[in-house]
Amino acid sequence: MGTKEITNPDSLYYKVDDVVMERGEGIYLYDSEGNEYIDCASATFNLNLGYTNKEVIDTVKEQADQLIHVTSSYQTNAVNKLAEKLVEISPDNLTKVHPKVSSGSAANEGAIKMAQNYSGKTDVISLFRSHLGQTYMMSALSGNSFRREPFPPQFSFGLQVPDPYCNRCFYNQKPDSCGMLCVERINDFIEYASNGKIAAMIIEPISGNGGNIVPPKEYFKQLRKLCDEHDIALIFDEIQTGFGRTGKMFAADYFDVKPNMMTVAKGLGGTGFQVAATLTEEKYTGLAGHNHSFTYGSNVMASAAACKTIEIMQRPGFLENVTIVGKYIMDSLEHMKKEFTFIADVRGVGLMIGVEIVKENNEPDVELTNYIAKRAMDYGLILRTSRYGFGNVFKIRPPLTITLSEAEVLCFKLRKLLEDIK
Ligand SMILES: Cc1ncc(COP(=O)(O)O)c(C=O)c1O
Repeated sequence: MGTKEITNPDSLYYKVDDVVMERGEGIYLYDSEGNEYIDCASATFNLNLGYTNKEVIDTVKEQADQLIHVTSSYQTNAVNKLAEKLVEISPDNLTKVHPKVSSGSAANEGAIKMAQNYSGKTDVISLFRSHLGQTYMMSALSGNSFRREPFPPQFSFGLQVPDPYCNRCFYNQKPDSCGMLCVERINDFIEYASNGKIAAMIIEPISGNGGNIVPPKEYFKQLRKLCDEHDIALIFDEIQTGFGRTGKMFAADYFDVKPNMMTVAKGLGGTGFQVAATLTEEKYTGLAGHNHSFTYGSNVMASAAACKTIEIMQRPGFLENVTIVGKYIMDSLEHMKKEFTFIADVRGVGLMIGVEIVKENNEPDVELTNYIAKRAMDYGLILRTSRYGFGNVFKIRPPLTITLSEAEVLCFKLRKLLEDIK
């Protein structure tokens, strides 16, 4: 089975880790040397059902025997069923599904085009630490200058505003007395930093790559109000938070807010199938099909996988498991926080958890965070950090199928790693 003889060939555009992964099962990955790892990142935060989910694979095999691909101009049962399912499980104001995309970035771009097309307005608000994808438009709208640094400015219609990062509040406020100043101040950005014509605000309900920032529920209440007042389409990027990650089907349910649109990808593919979509209210449906459609959008095999994934997630106990196991991990991490002074904060919802690492003076400790992530593999863990190695948060986001006893092993290994580092 081994593929050891071809490691990092010169033909690869960039080098990747030396480890060759050979096999995955549930929360575990196995390399070509036979080492076992618990994947705390669910691959790229997308394998919500873990590696090699048999039910999804059997469904895809069946679909592959019938039809693998057809142009999205025609109907297929798989895509029709997926559209119906997505409407069934999403907030009830979202009644239309645009499935002709195959990546999160393209789903986000579609949502923005829909908002612009509907309103005739141009500008888009996003958050400082957002990660919305890597196409030109999404790089331009994402926060963090390092993502945009080598590229010429392409989009003048985006403006970033401070995120609701209560631990390190941009406005030096405290959450119990701030009155949600970070929402209030958006009015100033609209007035002074935009052309005044805001089509949309796009936001990850919990920041995926920006440090696992969990806004207070009140933030979304106020934000919804602000968007209504300015007739701004509120777009939830649920690409990481969707499909059970928070213990609810969507973060919108957890925060009890109705966005005007929602974008989905990653976890919808269950065990790794490439599928994405934009969900929207009826009023944003005017965008012509030819204005946003991609060859592998409305993918028949991926849609079949997605339908099965949703069916599994709807079974009794599935989402409850996320809440129960997530709480167990959070509690264990809180104990570790008391022991290890370099842990400044443990935050999360369900199985979307971040651990913030600091120096003695409470400054972010990026070096130590990266060191923890690097050493994790020696302890049988795969950990990923925020901002691709430029941040001070490591993330615990295992597949949602993780059991309590597997979570115990995860926490045991993590504690051992942190003890040795201490
Ligand atoms: C929150 C979020 N939005 C959008 C994207 C972009 O998705 P894709 O890589 O499928 O284009 C990502 C990918 O990491 C993401 O985490």
